Amino acid sequence: MTRKEAVCNQKGGVGKTATVLGLASALSSKGRNVLVVDCDPQGNSTGGLGVTIEDGQLTTYDLMCRTAAGTAADAVIATPWEGVDLIPSNALLANIESDGANDLIFRLDIAFEGIDLSAYDVVLFDCPPSLGKLLFAVLCAADGVIVVTEPTIDSVGGVENLYETIRNVQRRPNPKLVVDKIVLSRKKGTAEHIFREDELRSAFGDLVARTAIPELGARQDAHSARTPIHRWTGGKALALRVAYDDLLAELPITTTGVPA
Ligand SMILES: Nc1ncnc2c1ncn2[C@@H]1O[C@H](COP(=O)(O)OP(=O)(O)O)[C@@H](O)[C@H]1O
Ligand SMILES: [Mg+2]
Repeated sequence: MTRKEAVCNQKGGVGKTATVLGLASALSSKGRNVLVVDCDPQGNSTGGLGVTIEDGQLTTYDLMCRTAAGTAADAVIATPWEGVDLIPSNALLANIESDGANDLIFRLDIAFEGIDLSAYDVVLFDCPPSLGKLLFAVLCAADGVIVVTEPTIDSVGGVENLYETIRNVQRRPNPKLVVDKIVLSRKKGTAEHIFREDELRSAFGDLVARTAIPELGARQDAHSARTPIHRWTGGKALALRVAYDDLLAELPITTTGVPA
């Protein structure tokens, strides 16, 4: 069954979107198929995949506005990235946080109900930088969590806070939810970053992916050009390509079958 992974951290700027796009790029370069679901009102993965939302296009916001099984299928669009489909997002999604509907947090899960996702190796939800209702809704719809964090003084505490939300979701609406990996992103070779990486590994052990994503300018250049890092030749793109390939291999994402 195609795994649905929520790529999370309540903090902005830690590399969630970069991780979603890096993994999508790695899968695309292997001829695989992936569905990205942009769940951030900032729409950075939508823009990063080179998508402009046309009139009438359904977005994640539309999926969250009603309770209707299977509507996610109507919101899927192809992107310029080979093998990468998208449910896009825009600023309207921010309205969800003030929506008082009592079934709000189940709506994304219900939108995916009954959909055949077998064409995809994985579904990646790019999460908003908050611990609000939207994140809760994504965690209700997901099978696994990929926590992304920078190696800073706040990272262990930040991951612990996020864990509390994850545990709340596991307790009731979604007991099958599993934290698959904690990913260190934007790592520089400074003594401080090395110290913080050790701290995180001591706190969370093998749950921290062996692969850390290095901080390299090629990532921003490729993002500005809306280009997969595996097709970007400038700067130290190769190091990023290797990192995302290695990270992909550590995740419970099966890429051995025949792509649909
Ligand atoms: N490995 C990296 N090397 C260099 N810059 C990065 C890297 N990962 C992310 N960035 C940049 O850092 C900023 C925040 O990253 P982003 O993935 O958008 O974070 P988030 O989705 O958690 O808010 C963006 O400008 C992005 O291009
Ligand atoms: Mg983002």
